[in-house]
Amino acid sequence: MKAVNRPGGANVIEKGSYIRDILRQPVGTTVEAHGWVKTRRDSRGIHFIQMNDGSGFSDLQVVVEAGVVPAETLARVTTGACLRVCGELVASPGAGQAVELKARVIEVYGDADSATYPLQKKGHTMEFLREIAHLRARSNTFGAVFRVRNVLSAAIHRFFQERGFLYVHSPILTTSDCEGAGALFRVTTLDLMNLPRTPSGEVDTTADFFGRPAYLTVSGQLEAEIFALAFTNVYTFGPTFRAEQSNTPRHLAEFWMVEPEMAFADLDDDRRLAEEFLKYTIGAVLEEARDDLEFFNKRIDNTVLATLEHVVTSGFEHVTYTEAIRLLEQARDQGRQWEFPVHWGADLQSEHERYLTEEVFRKPVVVTDYPKEIKAFYMRLNDDGRTVRAMDVLVPRIGEIIGGSQREERYDILRERIDAQGLNADDYWWYLDLRRYGSAPHAGFGLGLERMMMYLTGMKNIRDVIPFARAPGEARF
Ligand code: 4AD
Ligand code: MG
Repeated sequence: MKAVNRPGGANVIEKGSYIRDILRQPVGTTVEAHGWVKTRRDSRGIHFIQMNDGSGFSDLQVVVEAGVVPAETLARVTTGACLRVCGELVASPGAGQAVELKARVIEVYGDADSATYPLQKKGHTMEFLREIAHLRARSNTFGAVFRVRNVLSAAIHRFFQERGFLYVHSPILTTSDCEGAGALFRVTTLDLMNLPRTPSGEVDTTADFFGRPAYLTVSGQLEAEIFALAFTNVYTFGPTFRAEQSNTPRHLAEFWMVEPEMAFADLDDDRRLAEEFLKYTIGAVLEEARDDLEFFNKRIDNTVLATLEHVVTSGFEHVTYTEAIRLLEQARDQGRQWEFPVHWGADLQSEHERYLTEEVFRKPVVVTDYPKEIKAFYMRLNDDGRTVRAMDVLVPRIGEIIGGSQREERYDILRERIDAQGLNADDYWWYLDLRRYGSAPHAGFGLGLERMMMYLTGMKNIRDVIPFARAPGEARF
């Protein structure tokens, strides 16, 4: 968008400018703005319209003086209507904006029946807004959420691109279970009412589209490993799917994951990358989506800004799983009630993770070296034979935001781990092949994009930081 100086006249803005840019233009500029009406108020024959096109947090205030716009048109300017407004920028006497638009012409692109338009100025609950996911993107809160998500996504790519990581598009349809946890969505073109059967009565999956059972991927990691063992440093960034029946504010059935994978790297390198990555992306959002973060700080959670600013300047804490268990047992012995009992060998639950990061360390904590029984088969076995080179990054309010590990690069040990977890080694033949041909130490992690979004915005439910949430019983839009 450019402001051009017309000879002998005021500045004129080219057609179709973003409101964000219009608000930075000087008084006297002629502009054309498009957007949706947030509110309208009338006072002594003058009409004030707040409109927004999603380009920034601030609305454009349009002032319509008596008699300028036909009454029939004005009657159609209601909350939710979509408008084109032409006029001049004038100094705004109101607080919060330097300029406002004095309308000369208003065109209504689309009416919004005020008797039925669901998004009114009154604060709506998040639950209600989820029911109108086709309209909630126009609200202040969701405008801010999706602008932050956009800035975050761009910063993620920038972080890896600046460091020479190759972006890999890992497949969405797969025939392997990366996490070995079985929470897979099955994909089939078989006729469910008329399934082909083998002579012994089982479903004949050779007749299915891929000639074998297929699923939506739970993680791009295994494919990222293939690429790391060819391109050294790579990352995936795409949707992943988990059919867990976890109806919690932290789980989605479809979520986006960022997964870097580095060859010639161990768990310490992985931990450093995770810390650098979180600090970089948080710093970028603090800088580039300031208005939106200020809104979250004011309206959603007044600790958001201070927390984020603290994180980018302070070091992360590091404890081993064994040490974490000791701290949790110590708390229990001092009277802390845990819903899930703690003992060496038990998985850390959300309450434990949050205690460590919120109460013990009050900053992000990386927990490493978990018992092998509670982690995936691909994690590198430590010399103690009991723990693996796993890491989880825990942050206040969220708990686990990143899960990662150094990978098992030794063929024999990997093979044993696959067998010990009851997985079928034949399904992983190509993954095992990577350990037979030019294996190398390597490590990586996965960041849940929506967990990160919750951390950045203070939003309490993960369904409210993704455009269209998929969770048990929920896939309407
Ligand atoms: O810890 P997870 O399961 O790790 C992996 O999938 C590895 N393959 C990653 C890797 O090493 N490349 O998942 C990684 C992150 C979690 O820390 C969490 O932030 C997020 O993904 N996550 C979910 N987010 C929303 N809904 C769910 N159901 C999630 N499950 C995991
Ligand atoms: Mg995990």
